[in-house]
Amino acid sequence: MGLEPVKVGLLGLGTVGGGTVKVLSRNAREIARRAGREIRITRAAAKDYQPGTIPGTESIEVTDDAFRIVDDPDIEIVIELIGGYSPARELVLKAIENGKHVVTANKALIALHGDEIFAAAKAKGVMVAFEAAVAGGIPIIKAMREGLAANHIDWAAGIINGTGNFILTEMRDKGREFGEVLAEAQALGYAEADPTFDVEGIDAAHKLTIIASIAFGIPLQFDKTYTEGITRIEPQDVAYADEFGYRIKHLGITRKTDRGVEMRVHPTLIPERRLIANVDGVMNAVLVKGDAVGPTLYYGAGAGSEPTASAVVADVVDVARALTTDPDNHVPHLAFQAKDLSDMPVLPIEDVETAYYLRLQVRDQPGVMARIASILGDAGISIEAIKQKEPQENEVEVPLVLLTRRVNESRMNQAIEKIELLESVKGQVMRIRIEHLDG
Ligand code: HSE
Repeated sequence: MGLEPVKVGLLGLGTVGGGTVKVLSRNAREIARRAGREIRITRAAAKDYQPGTIPGTESIEVTDDAFRIVDDPDIEIVIELIGGYSPARELVLKAIENGKHVVTANKALIALHGDEIFAAAKAKGVMVAFEAAVAGGIPIIKAMREGLAANHIDWAAGIINGTGNFILTEMRDKGREFGEVLAEAQALGYAEADPTFDVEGIDAAHKLTIIASIAFGIPLQFDKTYTEGITRIEPQDVAYADEFGYRIKHLGITRKTDRGVEMRVHPTLIPERRLIANVDGVMNAVLVKGDAVGPTLYYGAGAGSEPTASAVVADVVDVARALTTDPDNHVPHLAFQAKDLSDMPVLPIEDVETAYYLRLQVRDQPGVMARIASILGDAGISIEAIKQKEPQENEVEVPLVLLTRRVNESRMNQAIEKIELLESVKGQVMRIRIEHLDG
């Protein structure tokens, strides 16, 4: 091969950084045949790195000062795998200022500062690639941005946090405790440094923000993504969902409506016959509905060392291939040309319409069901199914579970407020949205 190797600087030698070194060195020859030249990590930055702990690092100069790498004139591509907002943002902006191309797996960085980073990259004529930021090893950004470029995208829905899906799966299959499963996900290297990002839906909201922008050509608007975690889900909700023929998944959903774009992350009941309802453990899946292609499903490992490295290295190959092309003809970051992004509004959750699962703790006495049904009926909310268990001996309260038809969220909020005021209803109503995800 005639061309000189592409020199790469790697920021971060943790789970994904280590995987990237391993994959690049193990598959070096094949990757070079694909990229058209050798890809060589010459320098890496890591705090407290113990030499020899990652195979493939022998020929890499490791420093603990990441700024030395983004300032190194020999480096053409910087891979940012430190994560978090800062100093990742400063490092990436500095690399761009120094004329380097950037590959990152940092979803938080792209969801919050992507617009600023893309503008800086465009001004400088360098590439910023971030496939690994969404759904780990699944090439969902490439699929949406390039493979589905012919389509008007109607909606996308995904299981885009491996840790959360692992927890829900273990709760359902083995009845395990939430905290114990979370600790296992941390030990396996799936969870974020701050695991509340996983269980409170923030990590999924970062990824959904990026998916929505690519689907609809809108600026990144993380602050407008409605975010609800899985911490309130109880084993009994998982069991009731099963009885009605549904699975509870922590879903990110974005949909284009006449009034604006929905962007939301929350636990969701999905009919068990849908393929996506059967995506278990740490696996991710994204369902994208295009007007021409119909529903399409992308499935794979959404977290972990080598699966995420697979997406990182693919981006490096893309950049290496494109090094000689006209910067104005690169694939746009958010699929649509930057000057053609739309100002379509993002809908507040109160304006979103879904069906609902409601679980109430009620007194076992005559008329309770009628009062609840009449509150829902007065609000124009149609009940689809009801389940109430026979009380055990000496039990005075029983769970009552209802499935409703689709209704506007604000109307459901008002009905729930009235139901919670009933003397025969104990505590708060558990509400989980339902999506049928039909094509
Ligand atoms: N914490 C994330 C997850 C890692 O569990 O999916 C991949 O982004």
